[in-house]
Amino acid sequence: METNSAPRKVKIGIIGGSGLDNPDILDNRREKHVDTPYGKPSDALILGDVAGVECVLLARHGRGHTVMPTNINFRANVHALKAEGCTHLVVTTACGSLREDIHPGDMVILDQFIDRTTKRAATFYDGNPGSPVGVCHLPMDTPFCPHIRKILINVCKELEIRHHESGTMVTIEGPRFSSRAESKMFRMWGGDVINMTTVPEVALAKEAGMCYAAVAMATDYDCWKEDPGHHVSVDAVLKVFKGNADKGIRIFKAAIPQIAQRDWTAVLEENRGLVTSSVIQPPS
Ligand code: ADE
Repeated sequence: METNSAPRKVKIGIIGGSGLDNPDILDNRREKHVDTPYGKPSDALILGDVAGVECVLLARHGRGHTVMPTNINFRANVHALKAEGCTHLVVTTACGSLREDIHPGDMVILDQFIDRTTKRAATFYDGNPGSPVGVCHLPMDTPFCPHIRKILINVCKELEIRHHESGTMVTIEGPRFSSRAESKMFRMWGGDVINMTTVPEVALAKEAGMCYAAVAMATDYDCWKEDPGHHVSVDAVLKVFKGNADKGIRIFKAAIPQIAQRDWTAVLEENRGLVTSSVIQPPS
């Protein structure tokens, strides 16, 4: 059916992981400190634009990397970005590689996750006063937005940045890294990369009706490999991620204008419909 209503305006939320929490990506920047019904986000929101497209940046661990994974208020982060008007979330995350052919420095455009977290609030529908009403059982067969993923993959190709078009992220609780037995088990399960933050962020974005995609940057080979020279350590993670943060910035600078060019009205409507149909309302 033809409609003559204007396309939905898009605003892009950017969540930067270790090494990409730097606001330089945005022009015309200003800080905004906000609160949410779920508490405070990890840091101030940085409002600005990328080539004229309105964006909001948030450092997932805080700008000084002071918030450890278990203590990240994922609900407040996603809620704050949604309340600021963001329709899309594009994020970066440092990760370990569980595959020989995913080299440190490679980008992985995630398409699936395995949840090994244990201590995180993973839904907005928590039954508390002030939270949305009902119980939400959201389908999670397609956690990451296929439309943004396509744009990110094309941009990586155009920029000739080594990347993998799909990948399953295993998110562990941390803060410790995995034992070798765990690392080998995650490989057997079909995990391609491993981190501490994709879950519950991706699921909360979906509950919020947003389009979410993640560029995961491999920084190490976790610890499954016999060659200990490539094993994970804080030093290795920070060195590789900082050294490669410019790749993430180049990808986002090219992808964001392309995201903004599309008409997202139908996709956003479909996202909203999925959430509405997934909530069991209390009897009236
Ligand atoms: N972040 C970066 N490398 C990681 C690893 N090997 N395990 C968990 N999180 C990570």
